[in-house]
Amino acid sequence: MPRGLILGIETSCDETAAAIVERGARTLSSVVASQIATHARYGGVVPELASREHLRAIVPVVRAALAEANLTLTDLDAIAVTSGPGLAGALLVGITYAKALAYANNLPLIAVNHLEGHIHAVLLNERESESHASPQAAGAPGLDSETWDSSNLSSRSALALVVSGGHTHLYLARPAHGTWTYTLIGRTVDDAAGEAFDKVAKLLGLGYPGGPWIDALARYGNPRAVPFSFAQIKPKVHLGGKPARTKAAKTAPIARLNPHFLFSFSGIKTAVLRYVELHGLRAEAKARVSRVLANFHPPQNREEALALCPQPTLDLIASFQHAVIGDLMKKTFAAAESLGATRILVTGGVAANRELRERFTAEAQRRGLRIAFPTLALRTTPP
Ligand code: KG4
Repeated sequence: MPRGLILGIETSCDETAAAIVERGARTLSSVVASQIATHARYGGVVPELASREHLRAIVPVVRAALAEANLTLTDLDAIAVTSGPGLAGALLVGITYAKALAYANNLPLIAVNHLEGHIHAVLLNERESESHASPQAAGAPGLDSETWDSSNLSSRSALALVVSGGHTHLYLARPAHGTWTYTLIGRTVDDAAGEAFDKVAKLLGLGYPGGPWIDALARYGNPRAVPFSFAQIKPKVHLGGKPARTKAAKTAPIARLNPHFLFSFSGIKTAVLRYVELHGLRAEAKARVSRVLANFHPPQNREEALALCPQPTLDLIASFQHAVIGDLMKKTFAAAESLGATRILVTGGVAANRELRERFTAEAQRRGLRIAFPTLALRTTPP
């Protein structure tokens, strides 16, 4: 009987990754080559450099994943690869390499949607912890169609918030007939939440990626110091203020969604910029850049945080983070309530955020909902 060994390859942005998973339930190896050091000096991902780094890393990363799992290519049953969305040139490296490996080894090739990958990172973690708790379940992964029946569909269905550098999307994920289906419930109409973290961090002269820096600094500031707010998106405003005229606009995914479940993070970015200018924080932010570049790691304690940022800047950072998380919570829990979802998954890079985890967990408990996040071992960490 095949062991159900799948080599997964991911090159959608600034990390070259390969992992081997057995029967969709056990991670045998996971190797990630981060490009943070390459992009940090530019304050963001440079797509051409990302493609070049993937070309350099892909062969050693895949070899390392095989070695860590004590396997060779001939042991594999299939190859999976992130097919998009992501940076075109970066994706191309992973897809081309995966295609070549699959062709040369006569293996099936599975194209994986990037956002579905984020959702399944949490589901895989859950299956792994279930199989640790009851070892006899280890050989019966949740993706095997025989393990699904209509009685467990509703309890396994989940509202998934995918919150990363490129996406802020709400999906209703439902298992059916051995696979999963996804219904888009809400999404950002402009920037992703992670992008807002990265851009605000850049504006404040902090390191890249900005999320972990803001996360580390926010805990030393007052989250109520700056009252940021989010306006309710009105039905036609998210179509650019114009009524939908063309057929395409009328049927565009955003136009069909409930505006209460739409996000917008470009406004808070501008609000932070105005605050920085009005309160004379620009020069201070500029002066911080060289200190941040000299030490890649976000501050680990109050002294280090205060040495890097005066208290008003820490308060601004804490208020920004608090407002973004508040908006993510408000819309996610409203969507869960309206759909009758009893289970929430929060995934993507921003799901590593400490305040986000604490507040989502507390609110889910208060409402009697189940909530899960990806393991912190998968988070974006500065080198
Ligand atoms: O999921 P991910 O690694 O890649 C994408 O698919 O985009 O997400 C990266 C994003 C970046 O915007 C990064 O700043 C953000 O996740 N991020 C965080 C944290 N760790 C990573 N945002 C807030 N708090 C964090 N601790």
